[in-house]
Amino acid sequence: MRAQVGIIGAGPAGMFLAHLLHKADIDAVVLEMRSRDYVERRVRAGVLEQTTVRLMEKLGIGARVRQEGLVHGGTTLCIDGDPFHLDFADLTDGGAVTVYGQSEVMKDLNAAADRRRINVIYEAADVTPQGLTSDHPAILWNEGGNTQRLDCDFVVGCDGYHGVSRACIPAEELKTFERVYPFGWLGILADVPPCNHELVYANHSHGFALASMRSPTRSRCYLQCSLQDRVEDWSDQRFWDEFSVRIGSRFTARLTRGPSFEKSIAPLRSFVCTTMRWGRLFLAGDAAHIVPPTGAKGLNLAAADVVVLADALAAYYGAHDEQGLEDYPRRALDRVWKAERFSWWLTNLTHRFPERDVFDRQMQIAELAYLRQSRAAQTSFAENYVGLPLDF
Ligand code: PHB
Repeated sequence: MRAQVGIIGAGPAGMFLAHLLHKADIDAVVLEMRSRDYVERRVRAGVLEQTTVRLMEKLGIGARVRQEGLVHGGTTLCIDGDPFHLDFADLTDGGAVTVYGQSEVMKDLNAAADRRRINVIYEAADVTPQGLTSDHPAILWNEGGNTQRLDCDFVVGCDGYHGVSRACIPAEELKTFERVYPFGWLGILADVPPCNHELVYANHSHGFALASMRSPTRSRCYLQCSLQDRVEDWSDQRFWDEFSVRIGSRFTARLTRGPSFEKSIAPLRSFVCTTMRWGRLFLAGDAAHIVPPTGAKGLNLAAADVVVLADALAAYYGAHDEQGLEDYPRRALDRVWKAERFSWWLTNLTHRFPERDVFDRQMQIAELAYLRQSRAAQTSFAENYVGLPLDF
């Protein structure tokens, strides 16, 4: 099999890229080790920046997000039960985010991929890129016991933090930066109405809590938890009891409890691999960088990476211009580091760090008090939250 571009991974980065390349008449094949059902069901954050919604519209897959996405013009921060509101629309000249789950984005990407006959091969086992520093790279994989081969000009690794793509780059060529946080997020989904019409980020002396949602009848709620905790340690009753304490009495009063149908614990990590290109391999999305979920930047960053990369590939095929491919890591990383900073900052501001002392706690309280009072500080929060500008 032959294609101009071989994409490894059919998550948001891989599928947004596949659509962008399709639009530019560049022929691509996507290889995914999991099933389509697995990818569409994977529960991840659900806040889209304006640029991500605009990208979906530009790709002709924006109808459902426009109809069903919940547009939020603000959010509430709550410190030890005392809430204050940030008005994004006022602070950023009409800015907003759209609450729409990653699994909905995946369904929209995949349905359009079917219509456009984009070639996505699911359940591809033992995916192995080859010849990445030669002029003739290839991807091998196993399908029902037979080795298959895709010859291509470029390989794009969109296969996440644990994927094979980044692992192909020799250790001495790889430059990475990392921060691991000493806690996790316990998340649940429950079919109960959210306790507020917008998201609530709570800093409580017990730890962080977040009230989010997927629809007017479906809540997505999180608690900071210990990395030693197991899902079995958290009955629904224990979850809601602790959530009620942390989220603050204003929202507890409107809280509807209900059985969870999804419950999981995720670790928090900041990670950047600045080696986003190695020979004919490019990395995009979680394969190159991880943000903690605070601020919900992960999917948005993946989309921004592939906008830059698709532009560069279009210039290469359209005008034999290699400059864009040269510039891809620098251009993508410019946005990546800013989102890393914002997610790291918001994590630091809102979580309880076990090893920190009462002075650090006072610094958090003072910074939140400053944010409550200063329009300048609020504007900085709001412009990062709704998403920094991206030209496309
Ligand atoms: C979510 O709804 O899953 C969500 C929302 C906002 C965040 C993180 C996760 O900052």
